[in-house]
Parts: sequence; structure tokens; C-alpha cells
Amino acid sequence: MYRNNSLKKIGWQDFQKLRLEEKGPFYQWKGRPYHVLIAQQFDRAMLERICELATKIRRIGKTKGGLLFLKDLLPDKRAMLYFAQPSTRTFLSFYSACQILGIQTAEVRDTATSSEIKGESPEDSVRTFSSYFDFIIMRHPMGGFAERIAWVLSNGDRPVPVINAGSGKDQHPTQALLDIYTLQRSFENRGGIEGKKIAFVGDLARGRTVRSLSNLLLLYPDVKQYFVAPKSLQIGQDTLDALEKVGSEYEICDDFEKTIPEVDAIYMTRIQDEWDTTEESRLLDTSKYHFTAEHLNLLKPDAVLLHPLPRRKEIDIEVDSDSRAVYWRQVRNGMWIRGALMLLIFNRAIDIDRYYEDMVV
Ligand code: NCD
Repeated sequence: MYRNNSLKKIGWQDFQKLRLEEKGPFYQWKGRPYHVLIAQQFDRAMLERICELATKIRRIGKTKGGLLFLKDLLPDKRAMLYFAQPSTRTFLSFYSACQILGIQTAEVRDTATSSEIKGESPEDSVRTFSSYFDFIIMRHPMGGFAERIAWVLSNGDRPVPVINAGSGKDQHPTQALLDIYTLQRSFENRGGIEGKKIAFVGDLARGRTVRSLSNLLLLYPDVKQYFVAPKSLQIGQDTLDALEKVGSEYEICDDFEKTIPEVDAIYMTRIQDEWDTTEESRLLDTSKYHFTAEHLNLLKPDAVLLHPLPRRKEIDIEVDSDSRAVYWRQVRNGMWIRGALMLLIFNRAIDIDRYYEDMVV
């Protein structure tokens, strides 16, 4: 087992306070991530390191020898994939990253097949998983649930790292990491993410990927964020507070066509109507927040178009073949980023550095 001895037993209230005040051993331990729960736990140095590792893994994985090396890095670790909410991309991305690194996996995807159906609390279910596995990758409809589990486990006899693969409407930190990696690669020859103008479009009120990515972008100087959405789906005050706290520039607007030519990146999102209490967003006309084939003419020649996927009608299929559409690249980047994260958590990243050094000379 991989034990973080610096975890102190603390109450849930104190744990929540810790989230706001300092990063602490729940989030970082010996300069590496421990639990991965919220985007705010990352600093710029950590982001750079994760992206650098992702690139090395990607390049090492191009040969059979490299793949065999990667497969031998974490064969002593076993992961529990607990996905209590629909997922294809994120689940398969983690699953593939585990396969690449030799991590063995088990999964619970349907809580109807677990003892939750017998009335067991989700907390107890995850605590049970923690008895068999070395870490837990989890997606849950309840906001803040991954943090709650990290706290529950830290107070038990067998704390193991928890990776949040999407919690409620609030956070999706690993998606934000792969989004940052995609932006970084897109702007590689244009001075990086610093100083870029980035627009979020669609359901910003309930999209967890937006909240997580917006927070990570605060680590890059002079980035301006645009929030383009119908009034009822606009970005939440908590995100705006975070922007204001660091004095980051932003604009709230509902005119998508006016925004397109101004920005360097557009992050499209789908309407998250699974959270509707009535038919509210189904009744809304969101067509003016769709990126159509005609919009390609308005987009700067070196701008990029992202989407966490799944897509509905937010982006015309014809747009896919344009070189500025990077959403399919984003999917593959996720696998490398998640691999990099797991290697950092289990302190095997140094092996990647050594192999890579020998490979490039
Ligand atoms: C997103 C999610 O689950 O929040 N999907 C993903 O993980 N790539 C976005 C969405 O469902 O709209």
C-alpha cells in the first residue's frame, strides 16, 4: 500500500476549511499530488511537470520497446474504477492509461449491482473498495463527493489516493488537465497559453469541466476569459469570485458571433439537461450558441476549437475536418495526462525521465 503518513485525522468541517485555506497533505505530498480532487490544488509548476511527463509517455509509447517499458512501471498497483454516472471517454481514458502502465483494474459502473442496492451508503461502498485496491478513480453525481470520500478514507486505517473523474456539477480536474495540455500544445509555437483569449460557450452554469478549466487558467498571466451563454446558463459567481480575486480579466456576453473573431480558443460545451428540475433548458433556444461550418470563416486562422465531448449539436460535423478543431486530439491527450498523473502519485515519474533521456541522445 502507498501510505501518506502526513495525513492527520481531522473533522469534516476542518477538512472543508482546509480546501479554501491551503493545499495541505491531502492534495500534495512530498511535492507530488496525493488525492486529485479539485483543479485549485494544482500550481503552475505541477501543471508544467504533468504536461512534460505526458509528452514523454506519448513519445516513449511509439515503439514496442517503449510500450513494454511503460507496462512495467506500475504492475504492483491495482485501481478501482467506480463510475456511478454515465461515462465512456473518461472511463476508457483512465482504463487505457492503467493498461499502458501495467496497472490492474476492477470496475463498478452500475450501483444497482453493488451493495448500495441493499442500502449501503456510497461512503461505505468506497471504503470497501479501498480495502482491496491501491487507489480509487471515481465519478459521482454528488458535488464534492470525491472530497468527502478522501476525507472518509483518510480517517480510516487504510487511506488510499482518490482521483476525481467528475463530481456533480462542480469539478472535473483531470479533464481540465488534459484541456490545459491541449491548449499548451496548440500554442506551443505562439508563446504558450499566457496572454491568450479563451471563450467558454454553452451551459456554463452546470458544466463542471468549465469550472475546473477556468480555475487552472488563472495560473497563466494575462489570459482573458469570455463566458458566452444564455442568461440562465451563465457562469456561477464562485468562478467569477476566483477570477476577481487574482485580478484576471473576463467578459460575460451572449453574442457568440461577435466573440468568435476576437479569441484564440473556444471551448464549446453541451447543455447539461440531466440537471433540469423541469424542462427549463429543453425549452431554451440555444442554437445561437452552436459553432457552425460558416463560423469557420470568422475564426482566427491560428485559433483552436475545443469540446470535452460528448457533443450534440454544438458543433457541426463539417467542422471536424478543419485543422483548428482539436477536440479529437483532446480525447487522446487525456490518456497521456492521466498516465502522467498516476506516475506522479506513485512516484515513478523519475523512471520516465531516465528512459526518455537515454532515448533522445
Ligand atoms: C464531460 C463531463 O462528464 O462532465 N464529459 C467528459 O468527461 N469528457 C462533459 C459533458 O458530459 O458534457
